[in-house]
Amino acid sequence: MSAIDYAEKIPNNVNLVGDRTLQRALEHWQPHFLQWWHEMGPNDFEGADVYLRTAISVDAQGWAHYGKVRMPDYRWGIFLADPVAERKIGFGDAMGQPAWQQIPGEYRSTLRRLIVTQGDTEPASVEQQRLLGHTCPSLYDLRNLFQINVEEGRHLWAMVYLLHAYFGRDGREEAEELLARHSGDADKPRILTTFNEPISDWLSLYCFTYFTDRDGKYQLKSLAESAFDPLARTCRFMLTEEAHHMFVGETGLSRVVKRSLEVMKEVGSDDPDRIRAAGAVDLPLLQKYLNFWCSSSLDLFGSEISSNSAANFANGLKGRPDEDQYEDHGLREKTLNLVTPQGASDVPMLNALNEVMRESYLKDCEIGVKRWNRSIERAGSQFRLSLPSSRFRRSIGAWAGQPVDPQGNLMQRELYEKSLASWIPSEGDKAFVHSLMQKVIEPGRMAGWIAPPERGINNLPLEYEYVKLH
Ligand SMILES: [Fe+2]
Ligand SMILES: [Fe+2]
Repeated sequence: MSAIDYAEKIPNNVNLVGDRTLQRALEHWQPHFLQWWHEMGPNDFEGADVYLRTAISVDAQGWAHYGKVRMPDYRWGIFLADPVAERKIGFGDAMGQPAWQQIPGEYRSTLRRLIVTQGDTEPASVEQQRLLGHTCPSLYDLRNLFQINVEEGRHLWAMVYLLHAYFGRDGREEAEELLARHSGDADKPRILTTFNEPISDWLSLYCFTYFTDRDGKYQLKSLAESAFDPLARTCRFMLTEEAHHMFVGETGLSRVVKRSLEVMKEVGSDDPDRIRAAGAVDLPLLQKYLNFWCSSSLDLFGSEISSNSAANFANGLKGRPDEDQYEDHGLREKTLNLVTPQGASDVPMLNALNEVMRESYLKDCEIGVKRWNRSIERAGSQFRLSLPSSRFRRSIGAWAGQPVDPQGNLMQRELYEKSLASWIPSEGDKAFVHSLMQKVIEPGRMAGWIAPPERGINNLPLEYEYVKLH
C-alpha cells in the first residue's frame, strides 16, 4: 500500500517530491484552487468547524480519518489506488496487452477531453450547492453537504493531477479553465447541461446525489477500466469517496418518504394539499422531482448511437462499468436491438455502448425506488413511485425533443406541452418546496419535512454537533 505524505504542501501518494517540475506546477495551481473555493464554494461557512473525513490511505480498511476541520483547511490531495501488478488491458482491440503508463500520442486529445469533461463536473457541483447551507434541515445534513463539497473538490484535484502530469502545457491550461468555467454562467458555463441546473433546495440536492452522482459512479467505473493506468487508478479511489454521495441521496429521499408517510397517517389522508398544509412533501410532488432529475441525468450518458463511444471502447480508453461481468470484451460481432422514434433496428453493439451503460444505470436507480415503494406499501398507501422512461424529456440522442410521456409513449405535442407541468415540478411546486427550506441548526433536531436518519456519522449519536457554527 502506498502511504500518503501529509508533511507535503499537497498530500499525495504519487511521490510528488520525486518530480520537482510537476510538484512546482501543482503548487502553482493550488492557490488558484483555494481562491476558487473561497469565491465559489460554501464561503459563508468558512469559519465553521465541520466533522469531516479526510483520506489518509487508499487501503479499503480504514482509509479515512474523522475530525473537526475548517473547510478552507481541508487537506485536498492526490491519491491513486494501488497499482495492480502487470495489469493488462481488459477490453477492446488491444485486449491482453500491458496497460499504458504513458499516453500513446494518437489518443492524447481524446483522453484529455474525457478527463476534462469528468473534471468539470466536480467543481460544478460545488458551485451548484454553494448556498444550500443556509437552509439545512439539520446539522447532520449540513455536515454531509460539506463532506460532499470537499470531496468533489478533491476529485477536481484528481483530474488536475492527470492533466498536469501527462498533458504538458495543454493540461496546465485545461486545469486553469476548470476554475474559470462556472455553473450556470451565461458566458462560460460548465460543459454538461445538468451541471448548470441550479440546486436551490434540499429535495433537489437529494435527487442530484441520488441520480447525478450515480451517473458519476458509472462514468468513473468505466474510466476505472481504462488502458491508461494512472486514470484507472485515480478513478478507482474516487469511487470509494463517491459511495457516500449516493448514500446521502438514497437515505435523504428515504427520509422524505418516511416523513411523508408519517404525516399521511397523522392527518388521515393522502390528499396532497393536506400533506403540504402539514409541512411535508406529498408523494406526487416527490415523483415530479424524480422525473426531473432522472431524465436530466440520463442525458449525461450521451446518444444511443455513438461512434465516439465505439472508438473509445475499441481503443481501450473507456470500458463498460464492471467489464469483468461480461464475457465478450471485443464486441466486434455483437448487435443491440434499439428502438427509436423511427422504429426498431439492430445496431452494432460497439456503437450502442452509451445505451448499454444507461440501462445498467437505470437498474441501479431502481433499487432505491423499490425500497421506497416497500415502505409506502407497508404504510398501507396505494401510491407507487417510479422512474420515468429513458425516452422522457430527453435533450440528447434519438429521443431528443420527442413528445413522450413518463411511461415512454409518444403523444401529441400539444397535449405533451400541456401535461409537462403535471410531470415535472411547476413554479408553484418549487415555491412550495422552497417554503419548507428553513434552517435547523440545533444539534439533533430535524426540519419537519424530513425524518431523522437511522444513525449518526461514524458511530456518533445523532445529537452530536456535526458542524460548529461561529
Ligand atoms: Fe465527484
Ligand atoms: Fe460525487
